[in-house]
Amino acid sequence: MSQVSIERRDGVAIITIDNPPVNALSQAVREGLKRCIDEATDDDAIAAIVIICTGRTFIAGADIREFGRPPEPPHLPDVVARIEAADKPVVAAMHGTALGGGLEVALGCHYRIAARSAKLGLPEVSLGLLPGASGTQRLPRLIGAERALDMILSGKPVKAQVALDYGLVDQICDDDKLRDTAIEFAVSQVGNGPRRISEMTVADVEPDLFEKTRTAIARKTRGLMSPERIIRCVELSTQVGFDEGCKAERELFLECKNSAQSDGLRHAFFAERAVSKVSGIGKDTSVRATDKVAVLGAGTMGAGIAYNCLTAGCTVHLLYNDEAGLKRGATTIRKLFEGGVTRGKISEEDMADGVGRLSTTTDYGDIGDADLVIEAVFENLAIKKEVFEKLDAVCKAGAILATNTSTLDVDAIAGATKRPQDVIGLHFFSPAHIMRLLEIVRGAETSNEVIATSLALAKRLRKIGVVVGNCFGFVGNRMLYNYGRENQFLLLEGAAPEQIDQALTDWGMAMGPNAVGDLAGLDVGYKVRQERTDLPNDPRFYRIADLHVEQGRFGQKTGKGMYLYAEGSRVPTPDPEVQSLIDNESAKLGIARRDIEPQEIIERCIYGLITEGARILEDGIATRSSDIDVVWTNGYGFPRHRGGPMHFANTVGLAAVYEKVCEFRDRFGTEFWEAPGLLKDLADKNQRFSDFDKSNK
Ligand code: 3HC
Ligand code: NAI
Repeated sequence: MSQVSIERRDGVAIITIDNPPVNALSQAVREGLKRCIDEATDDDAIAAIVIICTGRTFIAGADIREFGRPPEPPHLPDVVARIEAADKPVVAAMHGTALGGGLEVALGCHYRIAARSAKLGLPEVSLGLLPGASGTQRLPRLIGAERALDMILSGKPVKAQVALDYGLVDQICDDDKLRDTAIEFAVSQVGNGPRRISEMTVADVEPDLFEKTRTAIARKTRGLMSPERIIRCVELSTQVGFDEGCKAERELFLECKNSAQSDGLRHAFFAERAVSKVSGIGKDTSVRATDKVAVLGAGTMGAGIAYNCLTAGCTVHLLYNDEAGLKRGATTIRKLFEGGVTRGKISEEDMADGVGRLSTTTDYGDIGDADLVIEAVFENLAIKKEVFEKLDAVCKAGAILATNTSTLDVDAIAGATKRPQDVIGLHFFSPAHIMRLLEIVRGAETSNEVIATSLALAKRLRKIGVVVGNCFGFVGNRMLYNYGRENQFLLLEGAAPEQIDQALTDWGMAMGPNAVGDLAGLDVGYKVRQERTDLPNDPRFYRIADLHVEQGRFGQKTGKGMYLYAEGSRVPTPDPEVQSLIDNESAKLGIARRDIEPQEIIERCIYGLITEGARILEDGIATRSSDIDVVWTNGYGFPRHRGGPMHFANTVGLAAVYEKVCEFRDRFGTEFWEAPGLLKDLADKNQRFSDFDKSNK
């Protein structure tokens, strides 16, 4: 059956698009839309046209899957132009999410009706693109350049009511009346002639609007190519004619579409959707309740996790071993709510409701009826085992017992209970209520039901859940060890902390490793290293970090770490004392300091990540390479426009990565730089990490 069909009712042609799941504008849909518009305009019995979609949404945009291939006609801008050229009123009837090319189709129509629950937007920027079917030229003509700039640069959809206020839609209606309202509206316009946005002019703008916008977004969009091109297009809409503006938009759109940045962002988009597909878990896997949550420990993580669960509508019982600690924890949670209200994220009523669902206890007996327990006590295996033994004794059958350990063996923790099938790792990231990543660590005996429930919980908490295997540090922290190791070696070999951080932030990392260490607390990693017995016996290994901790320099919390922090400030300042500490240590270890170029810093840190990622794939700890990318882009500030470390390696070419790793092995020794077998194998076959995913299925 055709994805676009036409039906005639009382002189109105109703063109319906049916291309599940999101009615994306595939080649077949573009073709069908053009054919139906031609048919409707050629038919004298038709006086008006309505474009509507079946299923959950109006057109959600171009078919992103086609972007990797050469474009096939009819091209979307031509289809949109064809719709607008119709000499009978054309009305778009929008429900769900009218996004990207979908909204551009609606802008080609002469009128727009939206269901009350609909959202409208041009999110292309989040894919490294700009609207490429005249959206940058039509939207400013319809709603003004300032609002158009805001919508296109933010990529955020607006609600139907806001769209009505902006004049982006002509009418809104109840969801179940959309079709009838659109038909009625179309009939009412017969005889009025088409209202073509391309024939309008943009309302006058403040003369410095574009310069001001450039300055305002500069920091946030550092290194990205599409935002500046978006501004240029909207600016052009105020300066040149419609056709000239569209021509420029097309060129800039294609430039963006063909860029590595857009490729990386598109990869990130699909990777985040692939991540929830976990073998053994399907729609028929039962999901347990997560309404009653108990959180153990009320420190940095416990408080954030509790707040996160409260804002997702759960009741939370906070358990702590003494009353004073409980009070502190409850105060932290209240402060998080207050912060949410101040930032306009939650209302006073929601805060009262959330705080009302929080209770505290020091008695394990009180948490017996919890559906889910999340343990966030000290990172110490003996303590965690003791806690899980107690939980096993009091928790109801079927309760999920989760640990927020960031490195420890989930199976060893599960072994402290008689129900290892109900034990799982839920590794939240700090700050727990902000970071989107949740590593879901499946133990050897964790049941599919518990994994499915954890994936559902991640959604409920508005996080991205990535199911990973059990090993030291799981995916994220295991890779971080290599990245951090190279940072530490580079410090000893001659690079200053700020030089390393600058090189990596210039490359796109959200923060440099030394600033991150200070933020997280250098003592956290120190304690973990103290517990490990399997670390390399190399005097350089995390030497600088260890020395800092031993001298009480924990980072921001002590006002000094790898950097200095003025009282109450989070701004890192290079500290001459740190440099002399490093210089002394290099001398002590007999390391000749040298000038180190940014390129070497980037390659050693990033290739360190990639090699460990390859081993993680080889070991089956991650299901697919794109899962590793999701972990790193959502949990560790890896630049999304580079897709993630594994996607980045694919774009460099695995043969080139392998060659570089061999060069590092020859320069720095086999202990740290032996190339993983999988990397060599794929490089030899001229393949990508994603080919391994496929062959591994
Ligand atoms: N092209 C191809 N596939 C798409 C798609 C698109 N534009 N949008 C979504 N999909 C696919 C997803 O990959 C997913 O596939 P899967 O089931 O095989 O994993 C399926 O549709 C459902 O998507 P979600 O899981 O994301 O469903 P949600 O209901 O959570 O969200 C949505 C729906 C809000 C529409 C969300 O999918 C979304 O934001 N999509 C992208 C919208 C977008 O960026 N549009 C602009 C595209 S670029 C463009 O239009 C250029 C133009 O200017 C020329
Ligand atoms: P923290 O030291 O801030 O808090 C731990 C809390 O647990 C303290 O309040 C402590 O008093 C309490 N506690 C200790 N033993 C307890 C017991 N037997 N019963 C009840 N409460 C007890 O530590 P943080 O940073 O919150 O870490 C907690 C867990 O979260 C650790 O496993 C850590 O590895 C993990 N984690 C930490 C991250 C971070 O960035 N801090 C990130 C991700 C995970």
